[in-house]
Amino acid sequence: MSTDSVIAQPRTIFGLLLSQRRRFTRGVTLAILRCLIIAPCPWLFQIIIDQHVKNGDGLGILATSSVFIGLLFLHYSFSVAGALTIAREMADLMTGLRGEIFNKLHFLNFGFLDRQKTGRLLSKYAFDTQKVENALTQMLNQFLPNILYSLSISIILVALNWQLSVALLLMIPILLYIRVTFYAQIRRTNKDTRIAQERLTGTASEAISALRLVRSLGEEKQVTAHLDEKSTAFARSKVELSSVNAIFGTFTYASTQFLALLVIAGGAWLVIQGTMTIGTLLAFMAGLPIIMMPVHLFASLGEQYFVGQESYRSIKELLDSEYVEEWNGTQQPTPLRGEIQFDNVSFAYPETDRFVLINFSLHIQPGEHIALVGHSGAGKSTVTHLILGLYRAQEGCVSIDRIPLQDLDMKWLRKQSAVVLQENLLLSGTIADNIRFARPEATDEEVRFAAQMANAEEFIVRMPDGFNTKVGERGVMLSGGQRQRLSIARALLRDPRILILDEATSALDYESERLVQEALERLAVGRTVITIAHRLSTIEKADRVIALDHGRIVERRTSAALA
Ligand SMILES: Nc1ncnc2c1ncn2[C@@H]1O[C@H](COP(=O)(O)OP(=O)(O)OP(=O)(O)O)[C@@H](O)[C@H]1O
Ligand SMILES: [Mg+2]
Repeated sequence: MSTDSVIAQPRTIFGLLLSQRRRFTRGVTLAILRCLIIAPCPWLFQIIIDQHVKNGDGLGILATSSVFIGLLFLHYSFSVAGALTIAREMADLMTGLRGEIFNKLHFLNFGFLDRQKTGRLLSKYAFDTQKVENALTQMLNQFLPNILYSLSISIILVALNWQLSVALLLMIPILLYIRVTFYAQIRRTNKDTRIAQERLTGTASEAISALRLVRSLGEEKQVTAHLDEKSTAFARSKVELSSVNAIFGTFTYASTQFLALLVIAGGAWLVIQGTMTIGTLLAFMAGLPIIMMPVHLFASLGEQYFVGQESYRSIKELLDSEYVEEWNGTQQPTPLRGEIQFDNVSFAYPETDRFVLINFSLHIQPGEHIALVGHSGAGKSTVTHLILGLYRAQEGCVSIDRIPLQDLDMKWLRKQSAVVLQENLLLSGTIADNIRFARPEATDEEVRFAAQMANAEEFIVRMPDGFNTKVGERGVMLSGGQRQRLSIARALLRDPRILILDEATSALDYESERLVQEALERLAVGRTVITIAHRLSTIEKADRVIALDHGRIVERRTSAALA
């Protein structure tokens, strides 16, 4: 499966910006105009003092001031228009990037995903994209235009008095050099902070999902202590970041004051010498903060840049991850008969060295109903994972309709199958939405019928809004058995060729199970069904019972022999 991306993904956010330059041309042009339009202001100050004041020209002051106001107005208009344009394009770009992240999650293999913490992935999706956005916006809206602003002011000041300008401009590279030496430290601190934040959100999201469990066990203290530890680490890294920034900030303030002194003292000396007018000195005082802007920007934006870069790196790590499912097959044997064959399959979960299935061979006929039994951890669920290609076997071959999995179009195959698990996650939305998830185009009638078959209609109609009742993020308002019946309805609606029931009825009471079981039997006709269960009642109707023990088949019998 390919993971074609719509957004080019260079190594740095600066590269990202360059690759997106076309979409930002308009906004950046406006931002640059915003800065250039007020560049002549120090020069206007000089004209007012040296010409109008000297000549006692009141009208001149008014005229020059009007020009000034006109420029300010334009500056303001460009400023608003530019910021808005950049914000719009940025929102677009970020929606794309978030889409890309999520899309990637759909392609990554479970060997990789099993090792990721939900909170960390969430952090990449929600926070890191935000930080990248901040950094890019600052670069476009502040950094680039203001550097140009500073440059144009420098040109005007050089024209007014080159000696003082040169003295001033020489100071800037020195200040910048000192700044740059701080960078290594800032970068390191930022990385520490990001990692601490990911750990904190990871642990917190886990703790939040486990609130019920923790309270039931009365182990709040333990969890709080664990969370506190992560929280303290995060806080500590923030303090370090602040202290690095404070050292930076103070340095910035002190150096600005030093330069102001340089301008006043040097300028005053030049005025005494008669080589400079008071008006020019005033223009220098007005221009100084602007000339200094790049140095300040390196301080504040430098930090944001590194925060953004660090976040971008973390996003890219995910986007570049090579742990994608390697299913590139294209065959779609239509109609699927549902014949499943394991030939000497040995399998260990990625990053583990213990084989869960060893030399496993099993041939399931189309339309056959197989029951898998065995102790907990025997490898029953693993067998179903391999059928659906959620993991790849290291040895041997799994094939469906006599076609090895690697030649099949896996997405297509999964759409022909349905699974009901012991733990059933509901999506937020209505009950009908949840059933319909398996087949979005299904009619209300079909949804209702599926619910009926799953023996779920009975409790659904008693809910406040029937099929339109909203269920919580994880279906919190439903009992385990009710959730299971919804999942069964979902599976039935799909009308799958291969139906996998992994402890699908374990949470049901005897009567419900009997009803669901009957429905399943009726529906099982003509499909391949794999049932995993512990209860004898669940498996007695199976054509064959396969007993697993530590990844090996220890017994094959027909269910008749079982009875
Ligand atoms: N994602 C995973 N990563 C690593 N090891 C796993 C993973 N899932 C399962 N295992 C291991 O594989 C073995 C078989 O697990 P499996 O889920 O197939 O057992 P099972 O027969 O379905 O058990 P149960 O009846 O408890 O559901 C177990 O020892 C388990 O620890
Ligand atoms: Mg299992």
